[in-house]
Amino acid sequence: MDSFFQWGGELVLGLEEVDEQHRQLAEVLNRLLSIYQSTARKPRSDNANQEPLTDCLNLLYGDLERHFRSEEKLMREVDYPDYQNHALAHLMILAEMKNYCNRFLNHDEELDLGTLNSLKTWLITHMLDDKALVDHVLSVRNADGAKSNSDGGN
Ligand SMILES: [Fe+2]
Repeated sequence: MDSFFQWGGELVLGLEEVDEQHRQLAEVLNRLLSIYQSTARKPRSDNANQEPLTDCLNLLYGDLERHFRSEEKLMREVDYPDYQNHALAHLMILAEMKNYCNRFLNHDEELDLGTLNSLKTWLITHMLDDKALVDHVLSVRNADGAKSNSDGGN
């Protein structure tokens, strides 16, 4: 069966460190879907049934946070011109995600296919937004490589 989130194609941006983290995020979302499918019919009132979902949501939040921190470090390293906007987009995704996790924990929010699809859309949008960043990093690194080659030549 096809995965819910199939990472590949245009989502592969060409910078291994970023791609690998994106691939892992897609994997965690797929895990969240399969946990959802195995707990969906169990009563929400029984907290034990919700534990795997809560753990997986926390894992997704933690992975996202780490991924964003690492991208922000990368942006600073290459003086990315759109740093402010991109970092703001990260903050907004994290705030929304945190808000959602809290509502879920307080039983004010269910986890359903609609939520999972929204999470997937956020992730895809984020990954596509990273294309410009990755292109910038690659061009800076290529220019640096060319410079050190010519410096070292002769
Ligand atoms: Fe990213």
